[in-house]
Amino acid sequence: MLLKDRVAVVTGGAGFNGLGFATARMLAAQGARVVILDLASSNPAAAAAELGPQHLGLVADVTNQEQCEAAARATLERYGRIDILFNNAGITQARKTLDISASDYDAVLDVSLRGTLLMSQAVLPAMQQQQGGSIICTSSVSAQRGGGILGGPHYSAAKAGVLGLTRAMAREFGPQGIRVNAITPGLIATDIIKGKLTEDRKDAIAQDIPLARLGRADDIAGAVVFLASDLSSYCTGITLDVNGGMLIH
Ligand SMILES: NC(=O)c1ccc[n+]([C@@H]2O[C@H](COP(=O)([O-])OP(=O)(O)OC[C@H]3O[C@@H](n4cnc5c(N)ncnc54)[C@H](O)[C@@H]3O)[C@@H](O)[C@H]2O)c1
Repeated sequence: MLLKDRVAVVTGGAGFNGLGFATARMLAAQGARVVILDLASSNPAAAAAELGPQHLGLVADVTNQEQCEAAARATLERYGRIDILFNNAGITQARKTLDISASDYDAVLDVSLRGTLLMSQAVLPAMQQQQGGSIICTSSVSAQRGGGILGGPHYSAAKAGVLGLTRAMAREFGPQGIRVNAITPGLIATDIIKGKLTEDRKDAIAQDIPLARLGRADDIAGAVVFLASDLSSYCTGITLDVNGGMLIH
């Protein structure tokens, strides 16, 4: 097992069809004890229970600093360490530039970008004490190509911000043995796209992807397990594209 006895925190991990839960499941299968954080409405305790009694589910809104810190404290109380943070929580909105309101901007930027900063700040002191850790941040192909398929420009901006934050944290914390990397998923079939694309549209998109299909949640989970584990021990500040070749650059 790649992650025996490691402790992993996954934000936005409670949705059974989402990238966070698929990753939590694969982290657990590789021996990690997993702490699933999510909004109360998504029931993180039930998601953790699905993985087994050695895992923990906590309510934490990543846009709220106190809740992020409380989640890190509860993780340390239960397991004594934090080895892995998967900053996965994110929301999207289909908007054109001229239609983005101030509250749209706040909502989208707060979850992806502020949330990534706040949760990283919450776990970094423990990782510094341990002189090691791996943080994986979720950007998007949308940041790289100037718009994905569903998210508006504010979503692209949030996810581009995640790349800058990831690289800067990688540089700052590398000397302490803490690696920080980003993944850039392409179009992955989860609830985030549910009901937003017709089957015909999905087929048309798949035809333009070299691997000829949309992504699956486990495609992302595998990439995150790689970045979380010692298999990637000399990788920091990287952007790992997981997009089936949708964007080759
Ligand atoms: N699915 C895709 O095609 C795709 C592509 C590129 C990037 N991404 C990114 O991957 C991540 C996961 O996406 P997904 O497709 O699994 O989405 P999803 O909507 O299925 O899951 C997102 C999860 O985040 C949680 N969440 C939302 N706001 C939160 C908050 N404030 N605090 C804590 N949790 C919160 C939700 O409750 C949900 O469980 C997101 O950051 C998304 O932007 C997804």
